[in-house]
Amino acid sequence: MKNLRNALLLKQLYQLKQLGYKYTSVTPYKEDEQHLRLPNTLDSLKKQAMECHLCELSKSRQKVVFGEGDPQADILFIGEGPGTMEDSSGKPFVGRSGELLTKMIENVLLISRSEVYITNIVKCRPPNNATPTPTQAHTCQPYLLKQIELIRPKIIVTLGVTAYHYLTGDDTEISKVRGTLHKQNDYTVIPTYHPSYLLRNPSAKKEVFEDLLKVKELMGK
Ligand code: URA
Repeated sequence: MKNLRNALLLKQLYQLKQLGYKYTSVTPYKEDEQHLRLPNTLDSLKKQAMECHLCELSKSRQKVVFGEGDPQADILFIGEGPGTMEDSSGKPFVGRSGELLTKMIENVLLISRSEVYITNIVKCRPPNNATPTPTQAHTCQPYLLKQIELIRPKIIVTLGVTAYHYLTGDDTEISKVRGTLHKQNDYTVIPTYHPSYLLRNPSAKKEVFEDLLKVKELMGK
């Protein structure tokens, strides 16, 4: 909640600056925990995220990409941030890397994409598909943490180093950490390579296959 409060405070200070204020002696943000609490259903959380202007990504986005899938999924996939096709459709992983992710879910986990939940570290597209900055990732984090709290997945598969890093706080190289299990809160994190890395390095598909077999095993399938 501290991140959300800081982000709101920063936004209000920017607004005052745009109005011509150079200094302010008042506390622009009056603490009101009730107001800051995020909604307790996925639908209302999505509604709130759709209107989010807490960081500069809201200025260049076409659509907020909140996430999609089974709201009670046992498996949650987390990517980095929406790309061009996701930005225009409002859906996560619909481009080439999305096609590959769907194949991985269907062919290895032997379930359909609609049985898992898929989202990203940031819900708005970073221009030029840049890696989200720490400020962007932390500003968006309350939405992700609330999604996790509401979906209550057993397993979280982080796709690529950015998702792993921002979910766990660990900045170990992805090649060293992939396929390892990390118990965190009520779920197990399994980091693996990002599908867009696999499109560039198809030989790494073998390792992702092994990582997803671990997911299957954990699910008792
Ligand atoms: N890459 C991501 O990390 N997320 C998407 O939604 C699409 C591409």
